[in-house]
Amino acid sequence: MTQLSSKSNVKPAPPTTLFLFGAHGDLVKRLLMPALYNLTRDGLLDDGLRIVGVDHNAISDEGFAKKLEDFIRTEAASKVQHPDGQGLSADLWARLAKNISYVQGDFLEDSTYEALEQKILANSTGNAVFYLATAPRFFSEVVQRLGASGLLKETPDAFRRVVIEKPFGSDVDTAQALNACLLSVMSEKQIYRIDHYLGKETVQNILVSRFSNGLFESFWNNHYIDHVQITAAETVGVETRGSFYENTGALRDMLPNHLFQLLAMVAMEPPAAFGADAVRGEKAKVVGAIRPWSPEDARKNSVRGQYTAGESGGKPVPGYREENNVAADSTTETFVALKVMIDNWRWVGVPFYLRTGKRMSARDTEIAICFKPAPYAQFRDTEVERLKPNYLRIRIQPNEGMWFDLQAKRPGPGLNMANIELGFAYKDFFEVQPSTGYETLIYDCLTGDQTLFQRADNIENGWRGVQPFLDAWQENTDVHLYKAGEDGPQAAKDLLARDGRVWLNIG
Ligand code: BG6
Repeated sequence: MTQLSSKSNVKPAPPTTLFLFGAHGDLVKRLLMPALYNLTRDGLLDDGLRIVGVDHNAISDEGFAKKLEDFIRTEAASKVQHPDGQGLSADLWARLAKNISYVQGDFLEDSTYEALEQKILANSTGNAVFYLATAPRFFSEVVQRLGASGLLKETPDAFRRVVIEKPFGSDVDTAQALNACLLSVMSEKQIYRIDHYLGKETVQNILVSRFSNGLFESFWNNHYIDHVQITAAETVGVETRGSFYENTGALRDMLPNHLFQLLAMVAMEPPAAFGADAVRGEKAKVVGAIRPWSPEDARKNSVRGQYTAGESGGKPVPGYREENNVAADSTTETFVALKVMIDNWRWVGVPFYLRTGKRMSARDTEIAICFKPAPYAQFRDTEVERLKPNYLRIRIQPNEGMWFDLQAKRPGPGLNMANIELGFAYKDFFEVQPSTGYETLIYDCLTGDQTLFQRADNIENGWRGVQPFLDAWQENTDVHLYKAGEDGPQAAKDLLARDGRVWLNIG
């Protein structure tokens, strides 16, 4: 895990041929190329980095580079803004663009892989990274062909790595099968399974805050913590991804990966060292300790929701069933709320409530640690029932930072209390360069640091954690409706109310 903002001791990544499969897709245009540009801006790429787009459409090298440039200048401009307000710099882009080329090829044809080999031979280094920014149905097909064509064979002077995007499988069985396929043609140390949440500075900061400040460890357990809430609220709908989302739903899309990453960062034990295996081992352990609910408990402890027509940003928006490529009677969930328990020494008895949804009232990803109440005896004469419990809120996005909700005495006669906030906002302390979140991940992959990537057991344990819900829902696909612009259905509130708790406000 590399701290890119302190550039002083960070060296440029080694020369490499970086193949982008799915070169015409959204991920490449919106995130990967802006990230590569930002890395160029920060002097973190070697001049021997060659970027090779791979896809089935015909286009020249120059045409491909120009298409990327045009897109970034218009659609992804905010991702590459310089602090002085300047957008894509012509000089910097030219430095990157001269190293961009393109291979037209079918992912299923041997000739494509022969062309890739030629590209590697033409570079001064044998290092190569194959980034699979493709539809998931191609993952095993491409990897098998890379293996069969000998492109994954490493030498002491040349690494060969594969980056796999999500979704990594759609349940425990498919994730295991995909892992088995990858591991049949390469070793674990060549595989970089991406979860873009791990590229977020604020997510990485959870580890630093917990393990570099002695204070936190003293209360980070079931003696002091009442429960934990993890929220990833979005205002966007399914946009153009109706056909993908219909078969996926909010649970598969967000839980086993992004929300469980947040849960793991909050709940894992301190690793013995900050190496990739130690960190990933602890994360796998804590996610593996999620209690497997019985089908009845899984139903009781989960809520599926779907948005109907409403408002977003002051404008009317259609309901999920009216979106393109969505069935008029779809029961796919666009919102999910879960209660999970972690059965280990530190967390036994502490519920973790997780929720995520599209078309909610505000964009807000945060973790709230809710502490047990103080003994109130000495404030018998105050209206203690109106005091809020103490919370530590870790805001992942937007307005990144951390806030403690505490009680303080209101000035004046009498003993009156008020809620106050003790906070740290990222923007007040650090000069934050615009970024896509992929900069650290790309750089770490090029430099061989797997800390922020998922190991096979991390992925499989994530799916194990949601499998009871997937199984329970197979028999009952009812969804609770909520209006676009609201924070999920009433049933999600009832889930916490049954335990005498409430969700914190979103936004
Ligand atoms: C993606 C999901 O992995 O994460 C999307 O497929 C979701 O549905 C996105 O919108 C959320 O990411 P972020 O970084 O905007 O929180």
